[in-house]
Amino acid sequence: MKVAQQTCHSKNIPLSVISEKIRIFLKYAILAPSSYNTQPWSFSIHGASLHIYTDLRYWIKLLDPMQKELFMSIGCLLENIIIAAKFFGYYASVKYLPKATDPELCLIVDFKQGPIHLSKMDVDLFESIESRSTSRTPFLKTPVKTSLLDEIKTCFLEEPYSITFVENKKMKEELVHLAFNADINQFGRKDFQDEFAKILDQGLIDNRYLLRKLKHFIDHFFPKDSETKQRYYYPTFGIIFSEKNTKIDWIKLGQILERIYLKTTTLGLSLRPISRTIEESESYNNFKSLFAENDRIAQIPFLLGYTTITSPSSSRRPLNSFFKSYK
Ligand SMILES: Cc1cc2nc3c(=O)[nH]c(=O)nc-3n(C[C@H](O)[C@H](O)[C@H](O)COP(=O)(O)O)c2cc1C
Repeated sequence: MKVAQQTCHSKNIPLSVISEKIRIFLKYAILAPSSYNTQPWSFSIHGASLHIYTDLRYWIKLLDPMQKELFMSIGCLLENIIIAAKFFGYYASVKYLPKATDPELCLIVDFKQGPIHLSKMDVDLFESIESRSTSRTPFLKTPVKTSLLDEIKTCFLEEPYSITFVENKKMKEELVHLAFNADINQFGRKDFQDEFAKILDQGLIDNRYLLRKLKHFIDHFFPKDSETKQRYYYPTFGIIFSEKNTKIDWIKLGQILERIYLKTTTLGLSLRPISRTIEESESYNNFKSLFAENDRIAQIPFLLGYTTITSPSSSRRPLNSFFKSYK
């Protein structure tokens, strides 16, 4: 049977139409944030189903040994798909890690046409997909209003995930100190330096990540004035927690991270994850001891605040290059 004559049985939509729609959702999906901008995913479309795979060529083992950030990145991508599909009138139902025999097949997403009621929030989140970016410029002194933080908490978190915002200056100082020490410990290790040099040669890491890291070191060792160090304490610190540490949790945490990214974009706020703080085990234990509820697992620390300049999004590989048949 010709593809154009096949139909999506649930709604009698020609399959060629639904696969074109899925391609549109994917155009938005690939604007999602990903760890070091690695975009570690690939796709195949089967009728009204989208298969999403991890692309392990883009897994940076040295910096993400458990693949936690890889799965979180896929979660960010998935959230964009769900939001875009809804905007265009489609429900997306998701099967997480559907086949034990195929560990690279991460998600199967089945699409079904509406009717769908779009809330203002749905439209706002969709419209932020294109304007969202990770903040790369210094944060301003202006604090984030508690009412906005509460809105983020109530809109986007559900059990067993939770979020804590840190505003206390002393605690922020300790967190900045931990983040800095985590970097120093890593970059000071010879095995890390060797592996890192290889990753640089392969061009796997976004240049802007490196420039920011360099700036961070310069500000710390050669602050040009007293303000330079102080401004690291200006933003609010947010930390997303989970109860468990499974791949599915990491994907779902990525979905939460992306929703928060998009929501904060609509509120005119800037966000920057600072995951290195918890990737080093020593640093993680120190980090954990700062929080009273020790049974929760700290997963994604991030900075939230205001900046004067909106950072442009990093580049993306072309959509076609992510299709399995393309390789
Ligand atoms: C799971 C995850 C962890 C991240 N960790 C960091 C981080 O530690 N530091 C940082 O500056 N950016 C971090 N980012 C942001 C990425 O570097 C960013 O999404 C990527 O470079 C693409 O840029 P964009 O978000 O502006 O489109 C992280 C993103 C994700 C999804």
